[in-house]
Amino acid sequence: MSYAEVYAGWKADPEGFWMEAAEAIDWDRKPSKALNEENAPLYEWFADGMVNTCWNAVDRHVAAGNGDRLAIIYDSPITGTQEKITYADLQTRVASLAGALAAKGVGKGDRVIIYMPMVPQALEAMLACSRLGAIHSVVFGGFAAHELAVRIDDCKPKAIIAASCGIEPGRVIAYQPLYDGAIELAEHKPEFVVVFQREQAVAELTEGRDVDWYAAQDGVEPADCVPVEGNHPAYVLYTSGTTGSPKGVVRPTGGHLVALNWTMKNIYNVDPGDVFWAASDVGWVVGHSYICYGPLIHGNTTIVFEGKPVGTPDAGTFWRVISEHNVRSFFTAPTAFRAIKREDPKGEFRAKYDLGCLRALYLAGERADPDTIVWAQDLLGIPVYDHWWQTETGWTIAGNPAGIEAMPVKIGSPTVAMPGYDVQILDEGGNQVPNGELGAIAVKLPLPPGTLPTLWNAEDRFRKSYLSTFPGYYETGDAGMIDEDGYLYIMARTDDVINVAGHRLSTGGMEEVLASHPDVAECAVIGVADELKGQLPMGFLCLTKGVNRPHADIVNECVKLMRDQIGPVAAFKLALVVDRLPKTRSGKILRGIMVKISDGQEFKMPATIDDPAILDEIREALATLGYPKS
Ligand code: COA
Ligand code: AMP
Repeated sequence: MSYAEVYAGWKADPEGFWMEAAEAIDWDRKPSKALNEENAPLYEWFADGMVNTCWNAVDRHVAAGNGDRLAIIYDSPITGTQEKITYADLQTRVASLAGALAAKGVGKGDRVIIYMPMVPQALEAMLACSRLGAIHSVVFGGFAAHELAVRIDDCKPKAIIAASCGIEPGRVIAYQPLYDGAIELAEHKPEFVVVFQREQAVAELTEGRDVDWYAAQDGVEPADCVPVEGNHPAYVLYTSGTTGSPKGVVRPTGGHLVALNWTMKNIYNVDPGDVFWAASDVGWVVGHSYICYGPLIHGNTTIVFEGKPVGTPDAGTFWRVISEHNVRSFFTAPTAFRAIKREDPKGEFRAKYDLGCLRALYLAGERADPDTIVWAQDLLGIPVYDHWWQTETGWTIAGNPAGIEAMPVKIGSPTVAMPGYDVQILDEGGNQVPNGELGAIAVKLPLPPGTLPTLWNAEDRFRKSYLSTFPGYYETGDAGMIDEDGYLYIMARTDDVINVAGHRLSTGGMEEVLASHPDVAECAVIGVADELKGQLPMGFLCLTKGVNRPHADIVNECVKLMRDQIGPVAAFKLALVVDRLPKTRSGKILRGIMVKISDGQEFKMPATIDDPAILDEIREALATLGYPKS
C-alpha cells in the first residue's frame, strides 16, 4: 500500500485503523473500542483495555523465546565502558528493582522522579515503574536543583531514583547536592531516594531517606507486571511553556504502546531484532519514546550512548557506534550534525568506518537547516529524513513514512502528516489558509493515540494552552505552511519558546529568573540565531534606578543566576544592559523586532511602536556583542 492509501484508510476509518494497530500489543484485557469521546474535546484511547507497558517492552519478548536477543547496548565513550543486556537480563533486573520499589510501598498511580544520566539503569528505573503501574517523571540531568524542586512539588513523588553523578566532558556532576537541594527547596518531601552509585562521584546516603540501588534489592521478591487501564498515565514529562512553570505532559499507557509500536516499522523501518539508535537523552521525549519504549516494545535493540557527538573522543564517535553495533536506523538532532560538521567539515572520520549497515538518518527536535541536511546526505550517502513532533505528541506528527513508502525528500520539509494527524494551517480567525500560505499549524481533534490527553493536575491549563485558540483543534505552537503536494514546512514558534541545541526552553521562564536579580527592574529574553545550536538565549536588562555598579558584574551575576536556577542546559551566556526596551504604546515588549535586529533581518516598523529611537539603542548595544553576526 502507498502512503496515500494508508493515510486515506485511516481517515476513512480511524477506529478500525487503531484497533488493528492495537493487535500488535499484548493486552490483559482487550479494549472494546479505540476512541472514547465522551468528554470531548478531551479524548482517550483504549480506555477500557487492561495492559502493562513493561510486559510489552520486556517480558513478552522473553516469553516469545527471544530472551537472548540484546535489548540494550550501553556504549559510554565518556567512561570508556560498554555493556550488553539481553531481554532476559533486562527482565531479571527490572523485576528485581520493581520488587525493591514495591517493598518500599510504591504501587500503581504513585509518582516516582528519575534523575539519572545516560546509563542503562535509567531505562531500568523507567521500566520498573511501569511494571508496577507507577507513574515516572524523568528530569534531565542538566537542570538545576530549583527546576527539580518545581517538578517535585508538581507531581509529588513518593520516591526519587537518582544516580550519584552525571559526566560531562571535563567534569563530573555530582547529583547529590542537586537532589538534596531540590528536596530541601520543595514543599513536598519524597519518602525515599534510591541511589545508583557511580565510582566517578559516590553519593553520601542520608540515613533514613536514601537507600543504595543494590542494597534495596537485597532479598526482595521480584515484582510481576501490574495490568493498568489503557488510559492510566504511563509517565509525566515536563516541558517548557511560556512561563517558568513547566507543563507536565501526561502520556497514556494504551495509546503510547500502540502508537510507538506502529512507528517503529512504518516510520523508522526497522524489524524486531534490528539495532535502532536515538542519540538523545532519557530526560527528553526523544529519549522516552526512542531510547526506551519504542524500540523495546517493538523488540529492537536500543543503544544507550553516554557521550557527545564531538570530543568523546572525536567527531568520529557516531560513526564508530553505528558500525560497531550494526545500527540500521539512526535518530539525532541537527545540532549534533552541525557540531560534527564544524569539527570535521570534510568528514574524514566517517571514512574510517564501514557504515554499510545504516539505512537512514532521522533528524528532529529543531528545524533541520538545508546545509546540514545536504552535508549529512553527501557524507552518509543514505536518505536523511527530517521529522517533526513535540513532547506533547510523543511521536511524529509529520515525517517520511519510509516503512510504508519512502516519499521523495523535499529539503526544508519534514514531509507529510502521519496517519492519525489531520494537520491544517489556520489564519488568526481559525480558517484554513490556501496551500503555500503561512499560518498557525493546528491538528484537528482528536489527536491520535499516545498523545497527551491532558496536563498533570492542570486540565484548565491544558485547555487554555492547546484547545482554546482554535476550537476543535490542537494548537501546536508552531507556524508554517503546506505545499501543493501536501508537504508541511515548519517555520517558527508562535509563542515564547526557543530551541537551543534541540532543547526546548522558555524565554518567559528565563525572564522570571532575571527579574529576580535585585538590580534588574525590567528585562526581556529572546532567542538569537546561532550557527551551532540553532538559537541561543540573549537577555536585555534594564537596571533599577540608582544602580551604578559595573554592568559587567551584573551581567555575570545574571549568567550565574540562570545556571543556578534553571541549569547549564539553558546555555545562557549572552546579556546586555540597556536603558529601555522597545514597546508598543500599550506597553507590550516588541521581542519579535529585537530578534530581527539581532539576526540582521529586515522588518516592518510596527505602527504601534511607542518610540522607534529605542531600536537604535538596541542596535548599538547588540553591536558590542558582535550582533548581528555577518
Ligand atoms: N547534565 C549536566 N549538564 C549538562 C547536561 C547534563 N545531562 N547536558 C548538557 N549539560 C551542560 C553542558 O555541559 C554545557 O555546559 P557548559 O555551559 O558548562 O559548557 C551546557 O549544559 C549546555 O549544553 P549543550 O547545549 O548540550 O552544549 P554543549 O556545548 O555541551 O554541546 C552539542 C553542544 C551540540 C554537542 C550538544 O548540544 C549535543 O550533543 N546536542 C545533541 C542534541 C540532543 O541530543 N538533543 C535532544 C533532543 S533530540
Ligand atoms: P520538544 O517538545 O522539546 O520536542 O520541542 C518541540 C518543538 O521543537 C516543536 O514544536 C518545534 O518548534 C521544534 N521542532 C521539533 N522538531 C522539529 C522539526 N523537525 N522541524 C522544525 N522544528 C521542530
